[in-house]
Amino acid sequence: MFLKRISLLLKGHEDVSKYPFTIASIKNLKELQLEKRVTFFVGENGSGKSTLLEAIADKCEFNTAGGGRNNLFEVDQAESALGDFIRLSWMPKATNGFFLRAESFYQFASHIDELARQDRGIYDQYGGKSLHHQSHGESFLTLFQHRFNGDALYLLDEPEAALSPARQLAFLRIIHDLTEKEDCQFIIATHSPILLGYPDADIYSFDDGEIRKVAFEDTDHFQITKYFLDNRDRFLVELFKEDEV
Ligand SMILES: Nc1ncnc2c1ncn2[C@@H]1O[C@H](COP(=O)(O)OP(=O)(O)OP(=O)(O)O)[C@@H](O)[C@H]1O
Ligand SMILES: [Mg+2]
Repeated sequence: MFLKRISLLLKGHEDVSKYPFTIASIKNLKELQLEKRVTFFVGENGSGKSTLLEAIADKCEFNTAGGGRNNLFEVDQAESALGDFIRLSWMPKATNGFFLRAESFYQFASHIDELARQDRGIYDQYGGKSLHHQSHGESFLTLFQHRFNGDALYLLDEPEAALSPARQLAFLRIIHDLTEKEDCQFIIATHSPILLGYPDADIYSFDDGEIRKVAFEDTDHFQITKYFLDNRDRFLVELFKEDEV
């Protein structure tokens, strides 16, 4: 465990009518305690999960466009608006790690190809070949299997984006090995009920204007998915019902 606490530092002269303080969960954040090796951020679209994850990546000096400390490449809109307003409390400070952003993974893959022109050995960390020559899901899993290792903090924004249900389970196994056998910490923003089912993790919900701990079974992700799978026919009838006049 490395990162223990995230605190919002407002000095009083910030423009709270502007992003990122227009996001209720962020505006109301005081402190977030991280007590487990695996922490999930859940919440509706637009509830502020990526904003906070990016700010943590920024403070860790990981590239906010994705990657670790040594991965310098730029994409539009990659700077963090919140990074200057949070404080991270460490014990001890992690310098290794990786920030995964699904939307700029293509640029990350091109950046690795660029580095490999000087040193093909770099592909060893990525399954032996260009990430562009692997499918979306294969390249994610390759990254987790080969690039991720001990003594590191991993910040992952919707890692399930590319993964089939079977590969999501394989990913749970990778998280398990990296946290049990090596010293790693994960903070993961996700919409996946499979990933959220990881045992002994804390889940923080960003819904209802605050960030608070919730149980797996109390997340919308669990409840809606379970209800849908258990009652698909009834659910669909209800969903497609004509509006009554
Ligand atoms: N650079 C920006 N400038 C202005 N507003 C922004 C910016 N980035 C995000 N927002 C707004 O902040 C809110 C939170 O965005 P954020 O990306 O953190 O949500 P999220 O919880 O990650 O959502 P999702 O589940 O869809 O990924 C959204 O309403 C979004 O439109
Ligand atoms: Mg997001």
